[in-house]
Amino acid sequence: MGVIEDLRYVNLEARWAEELEALELQSFPSANPADLYSAGELVELAEVFPEGGFVVLDGETPIAMGLGVRVHFDLSRPQHRMKDLMSGHKAGHDPTGEWYYGTDIAVNPSYRRRGIGSRLYDLRKEVCRTLGLRGIIAGGVIPGYAEHKDRMSAAEYVEKVAAGELYDRTLSFQIENGFEARGVLENYIEDPEVDNWASLIVWETR
Ligand SMILES: CC(C)(COP(=O)(O)OP(=O)(O)OC[C@H]1O[C@@H](n2cnc3c(N)ncnc32)[C@H](O)[C@@H]1OP(=O)(O)O)[C@@H](O)C(=O)NCCC(=O)NCCS
Repeated sequence: MGVIEDLRYVNLEARWAEELEALELQSFPSANPADLYSAGELVELAEVFPEGGFVVLDGETPIAMGLGVRVHFDLSRPQHRMKDLMSGHKAGHDPTGEWYYGTDIAVNPSYRRRGIGSRLYDLRKEVCRTLGLRGIIAGGVIPGYAEHKDRMSAAEYVEKVAAGELYDRTLSFQIENGFEARGVLENYIEDPEVDNWASLIVWETR
């Protein structure tokens, strides 16, 4: 319990950019690093939308983060790639956007399954309420699909996880946190383990 009590949840600052880049590489080991935030992009994000990004510190060391940007998003045309989001505005953040787009949530493996990820989602939900946003949208990685991809499509896999028939350490956690899985995103992020598939997850502000 001591470790949890010492943790601090703070807004994103540029000074942690290098450590957060390393945390990302550790958390998404099979993804193409070009699809992840670089330290330079994290510095930009800290400039444009610090109130939407959260870092968890153990002492002075960042051990988790939940980052995002504001976007306009047409739910009737949901297909998009991670890269599409990063174009157009600095760090992908459109200050007029009516949705919070969750770009990244990662917890250092030694600190997982203690409620940190869930608390980061709560902080994002609070941002939506404070700024009057419609909710949170994200492309969710589906690491467990790697073990099922020979037997079923990504769409079937996501349906089964949403129905509680299969467990995915990321998507099941997101559903547990109030997100709805609304289908799959093709070529969302370059990750050969899951043939580049991701799920589209949505939480509407309430
Ligand atoms: C997904 C991720 C962010 C979750 O972070 P986390 O801090 O472990 O999340 P939590 O501790 O809040 O919840 C994880 C699980 O632990 C359980 N848990 C929470 N506190 C617990 C405790 N004290 N004891 C036991 N289990 C606990 C939760 O119920 C949840 O279970 P579930 O998977 O059955 O829903 C983390 O696994 C991660 O960084 N993964 C790699 C990157 C990634 O996939 N990011 C998502 C991108 S879309």
